[in-house]
Amino acid sequence: MCGIVGYVGPRDCSDVLVSALQKLEYRGYDSAGIAVFDENDAITTVKTEGKLQNLKDKLQIVGKPNGHVGIGHTRWATHGEPSDVNSHPHSGARVTIVHNGIIENYQEIKSFLVGKGREFLSETDTEVVAQLLDFYYDGNPIATIDKVMGEVVGSFALGIMFKDFPDRVFAVRRESPLIVGVADGEAFIASDVPAILQYTKDYYLLEHDEIATLTNDGVSFVDKYLNPIEKELKTADWDQEAAEKGGYPHFMIKEINEQPEAIRTTIMPRIKDNLPNLEECGITLEMLKGFKSVTIVACGTAMHAGMVGKYVIEDLARIPVNVDIASEFRYRNPIVGDGDLVIIISQSGETADSLAALRLAKQKGAKILAIVNAKGSSIAREADMLIYTLAGPEIAVASTKAYITQISVMYLFAFELALANETISVAECQQLTESLQKMPEAVKYVIDNTNEVCKKIGSKLITADSLLYIGRGLDYALSMEGSLKLKEVSYIHSESYAAGELKHGTISLIEDGMPVIAVATQTDLIEKTISNVVEVKSRGANVILVCTEACEQKMKEGIANYKVVIPNTHELLMPITAVVPLQILAYYTAIHKGNDPDQPRNLAKSVTVE
Ligand code: M6R
Repeated sequence: MCGIVGYVGPRDCSDVLVSALQKLEYRGYDSAGIAVFDENDAITTVKTEGKLQNLKDKLQIVGKPNGHVGIGHTRWATHGEPSDVNSHPHSGARVTIVHNGIIENYQEIKSFLVGKGREFLSETDTEVVAQLLDFYYDGNPIATIDKVMGEVVGSFALGIMFKDFPDRVFAVRRESPLIVGVADGEAFIASDVPAILQYTKDYYLLEHDEIATLTNDGVSFVDKYLNPIEKELKTADWDQEAAEKGGYPHFMIKEINEQPEAIRTTIMPRIKDNLPNLEECGITLEMLKGFKSVTIVACGTAMHAGMVGKYVIEDLARIPVNVDIASEFRYRNPIVGDGDLVIIISQSGETADSLAALRLAKQKGAKILAIVNAKGSSIAREADMLIYTLAGPEIAVASTKAYITQISVMYLFAFELALANETISVAECQQLTESLQKMPEAVKYVIDNTNEVCKKIGSKLITADSLLYIGRGLDYALSMEGSLKLKEVSYIHSESYAAGELKHGTISLIEDGMPVIAVATQTDLIEKTISNVVEVKSRGANVILVCTEACEQKMKEGIANYKVVIPNTHELLMPITAVVPLQILAYYTAIHKGNDPDQPRNLAKSVTVE
């Protein structure tokens, strides 16, 4: 999604903006631009289609605007194709803006402005806002912004400069995230904290419809009634190093390697005396008693973490669990209400569909538990109960350490829920929790010992047009995540199927040489899975088996073309280690294909629009 930055202070503004935009590259974008007040207090805008390198090249050619106040943007196209003219910043005669989000009523506003004789250069909804600001501008920026806020519908974060105020940047948001960073004599705006970490760790979270004014004397805020307000200063606990590659060629492989630590950091503060203890998150056993049902709502990888949660919660706590895709849930009049628990899982905490699902479920009377990575994000703030995954910044678009910490939290939560509802004994819970505490080491072992074989298998997959992932039970939940990981970074089509479902249609796809990745970690299902593997193998599939040592022993020699064998752990916890080779395999397949795994085509890290 689009990235916004802004700067006011003594440094070279163009350099600060480009460098901050670089830290937001992970969000995904297809064009970039900056606008800076130059030494004559005129606004100079430089923008271009493509990556930031194109912008840097253009700045070299046309000359970098010299100044100390400016705004910058990376655009992920929604309205209008990626092109120079559609890139941000956009301007009216006296106003220049950058925008993240979608203005839903932009056509209506555009018609109004065209009727008033205004002309538009781009196809974007953003230019409409720039022109509307200019149309209403009466010399008072805050009053003008407020007037426009009353007319636009949708989600947005805006960085705004008025020609008459060359010493300041204004910012406002509704739904889309925006933070305001501060340091001695300088101030920043950014869509996300990593953009400013190189300059400061101190920031304010801008709330809906609040307006910020940044000057080098400091930052001031007004609420939606235009009353001045004091806001709480936050300090980021991520440092710059955590948001950099640290010697790895890509964020994706760095983040895969960070998983043991991420699990440890996430679970250890929530375990006491070998039992889950969520009091640190304000959740007591008492609060978890008596839910009629659980519905887990999320998107993409986070939804796959929910699939693991379903198996584990149903197995241990004996409460029926539905897993729903947020974009479906929010438009379906879902059956949730008083006495039901809705769990929203999100790395960014800003995913538009997940946030809308949260609000809907809350409005219907359900209790909301959020499992979120980004501190202070919208989903984190609006939930009734909150458990942070402490994975640190996840920069690669493909989610790895966020997923592994999401499922780790799902386990802890399921243990606690089962304990609260007395469906497992304290001794059973202790045994499970002890096993969970061993997972960081187990994951480290799997990373170290499957890297080479996955690299080799990845080199064989690059010629495949399509492949299948199959598994049963928890292995099916895991296959879904394996398949998504592979397709998003390698661009090879794949499907995940419950192995027992193959015969009902999908097996007709199998032909000579088609890769089938079979996940087998559950010994109680292994005989069934073996039958399915034999069925695809005998129809010509190239079988890649990801299995435990225990499951391998049950397999006949020669059943698989390639094997990735991982140690046995508690079988209920197997997704935590078994996901690792699937992630590494996806990474190397992308690398062998020459793709950039950190910024896959067409994808954005944080999906803040529908
Ligand atoms: O920030 P969220 O966890 O809410 O994002 C949800 C999905 O967009 C996300 O999990 C996406 O599927 C992953 N980047 C895929 O690796």
